[in-house]
Amino acid sequence: MANLEPAESLLVRKPCISPSVLILTMQGGYGAFDVRTKTMHRLNPTAALIVELADGGRTVNEIVETIAPIIGREKAVRSTRWIERSFEQKLLVETAGSSEHQADKLDAGTISDLAAELRWADDVHTAFLLQKHAAELDPSDPYQWYRLGELAHIVGERSLACEAYETYFASHPEDAEVGHILIALKDEELPPRASDACIDQIYSRFAEFYESNMCDELAYRAPEHLAAAFGKWMKDAKGLYAVDLGCGTGLFGRKLRPHCQRLLGVDLSPAMLEKAGQTGVYDELESAELTDWLAGYSGEPLDLITCCDTLIYFGDLTKVLSAAMARLRPGGKMGFTLEKSDKAPFRLGDSGRFRHHRSHVQAAAKTAGAHVERISEKVLRREYGEDVIGLVTVLARPEK
Ligand SMILES: C[S@@+](CC[C@H](N)C(=O)[O-])C[C@H]1O[C@@H](n2cnc3c(N)ncnc32)[C@H](O)[C@@H]1O
Repeated sequence: MANLEPAESLLVRKPCISPSVLILTMQGGYGAFDVRTKTMHRLNPTAALIVELADGGRTVNEIVETIAPIIGREKAVRSTRWIERSFEQKLLVETAGSSEHQADKLDAGTISDLAAELRWADDVHTAFLLQKHAAELDPSDPYQWYRLGELAHIVGERSLACEAYETYFASHPEDAEVGHILIALKDEELPPRASDACIDQIYSRFAEFYESNMCDELAYRAPEHLAAAFGKWMKDAKGLYAVDLGCGTGLFGRKLRPHCQRLLGVDLSPAMLEKAGQTGVYDELESAELTDWLAGYSGEPLDLITCCDTLIYFGDLTKVLSAAMARLRPGGKMGFTLEKSDKAPFRLGDSGRFRHHRSHVQAAAKTAGAHVERISEKVLRREYGEDVIGLVTVLARPEK
């Protein structure tokens, strides 16, 4: 049987926490983040107790004798294996001294940069803990709270996300996107849709990397699913007169182009429209809010209206579907994708996007006088490692 007794040479060492280690509070305990190796070590209650006692003045033997009455002798003796490993990993050292990676000298900005680095390396939990520490170090910097809001939201710390965003918003009330997210986080009364300012803000930032982010990183498939939902009708269609509402950079326009005689693109975001213009797929692009555009449209009745991943910024769909039906020719079609909600009629997710229940789509279509041809569930894309399930919908304006 293996000898569990610690070596005498270990027992006489006087451990202290490495100067490159930051001790961070986390749910249910502590974490030790080594800024040298950029790794987080989760400390169980015994490890946290040892770290507390490891002040460079006590030997390992004295630490064991101190914790034995609290956790039991056998467990205390076993914990020397953790101490030994921690010496090997340089989490514990014998003289604190100074290090080129002096954790307690790092300012909030550097810790926040570290958090950002870990976030993009997909270690969002560690990033969140570091960002929390950064905000605590410099509570007067609103951007520390903004970044904490984002990370707390990603790791599901909803009330902390709300608190952090509120702190930031107090000094940045012009930030329409955060204002919108706070409505969701505070479970406030829902607006009919995300405001124009909010959409403009999101997409002027996002436009530059929208396609690479959506298609390469998030496996965005809404355009493919929506095109397929029209089935044979779309395959056979030639010479359509169509408008793509919320056209963005033109991902869905590219699917429509071969079937259209005339294709218009409408979007609120000038930055997205600029990208759409570079594709050359639209005959005309217009910068407008889509419900205003529908209300003001006085041209030829349309064969087709599409909204790919756009009505996710609308709550109640009744008004927009009614306005769209009024602009279609009899027999014309409308296709759109939504994010699916299990709760009727719809809800605003903490992401700031609305999710709709199938029953609401059916009810809104009925009020709009539309025939529901299809509502199918498809994976639209990924988000934080999870599938985003959508409702891919095709409506038709009845012939009479
Ligand atoms: C997620 S993107 C989808 C873009 C494109 N349809 C696609 O599938 O890639 C949503 C687009 O809808 C636009 N948008 C959101 N709300 C809008 C509104 N009320 N009126 C016009 N455009 C809107 C945004 O500016 C953005 O370009």
